[in-house]
Amino acid sequence: MISWGIYFGGERAAEGSVTPWEVEGRVDYDRLIEEFGTQKFDRSLIERLERLAGESHYMLRRGIFFSHRDLDKVLEDYEKGGGFFLYTGRGPSGPMHIGHIIPFYFTKWLQERFKVNVYIQLTDDEKFLEKKRRLSLMETKKWSYENALDIIAVGFDPDRTFIFQDTEYMGHMYEAAIKVAKKVNFSTVRAVFGFNTSTNIGMIFFPAVQIVPTLFERRRCLIPAAIDQDPYWRVQRDIAEGLGFYKAAAIHSKFIPPLTGFQGKMSSSRPETAIYLNDPPKTIKEKIYKYAFSGGQPTVELHRKLGGNPDIDVSFQWLYMFFEPDDARIEEIREAYRSGSLLTGELKDMLIEKVEKFLEEHQSRRDEAKELINTFKYDGNLARRMWRETVASD
Ligand code: TRP
Repeated sequence: MISWGIYFGGERAAEGSVTPWEVEGRVDYDRLIEEFGTQKFDRSLIERLERLAGESHYMLRRGIFFSHRDLDKVLEDYEKGGGFFLYTGRGPSGPMHIGHIIPFYFTKWLQERFKVNVYIQLTDDEKFLEKKRRLSLMETKKWSYENALDIIAVGFDPDRTFIFQDTEYMGHMYEAAIKVAKKVNFSTVRAVFGFNTSTNIGMIFFPAVQIVPTLFERRRCLIPAAIDQDPYWRVQRDIAEGLGFYKAAAIHSKFIPPLTGFQGKMSSSRPETAIYLNDPPKTIKEKIYKYAFSGGQPTVELHRKLGGNPDIDVSFQWLYMFFEPDDARIEEIREAYRSGSLLTGELKDMLIEKVEKFLEEHQSRRDEAKELINTFKYDGNLARRMWRETVASD
């Protein structure tokens, strides 16, 4: 059984069979690559991607994306002029935090550099069907709207982006969903997702729904997402060619550690572990001062003498993974912290300043998104058009 208990942002990081992949509370990414049978995202492939993008990206340079499937083939198609499209999504189960939004920022960069279509699925059906969440359909629909605003705030190109919510869009997807469903046996999803005979049948059908957008265009689909979503792509890759489509390609991102340290998870029931996209400046400050796990020494004297450990310091890791794109600057900070000249409090202040600025800008774009949402959801006829051109004729 492949666990789907891990999440970007670690929302479900401690569940299922993820434990064997954790080394002293950290995710063992090499082991994940082995277990999932994906490819390591190596230097030469990163360089090729950056060359074609015409720009380097710090998340690539720093290994935030660490694994892939068929990215080489996607780039080959792009070089030959055939192009590709991007697909990602969000399970609308509550407010989004920093960990949730990072892959969207990277997806936006890919869209900008390659000028490609992006399809974003909001799985209000899935989050309703997951029993342990105890969410009503009204709630998951409400969160779809709220999350869509955060996603639009990332800055996707309205002419190339289609955001759709399953319960609304299902009529357009249903034909494809049953074509997929007919090819996937219960024994497969049971093995891949760990379903059993008391799993509700909505959940058993749902993988077909998440697979459908990989078939929105008849060229290669590249999915930037956390590795916990990979089991879906595995099933997709078994059946896609039989339906006349490409196997989905994927790039997998690492998890941003919870504020409270590498152990445990960012969790909605423990708000101190995460920073939410709607946290006000006061809360940001409080959470980081109070909870951000420190790699520093217990006293200033000791810290000056022995220095801190940036590898386990969450403030440093957050700067490294997202908030400080400048390589020279991040190395300066790393050195200063290691040497003891930079204190934990000072490091936290640096992070607070970055997070506050980021969220202030994000929140103002989120306000503007309220006017834009129809452009993405209803007039963004992209998927409908593509769909008619491709699949409807089958
Ligand atoms: N199942 C995902 C979740 O629970 C949501 C999702 C749907 C998704 N389609 C996707 C995530 C494609 C990444 C890529 O969050």
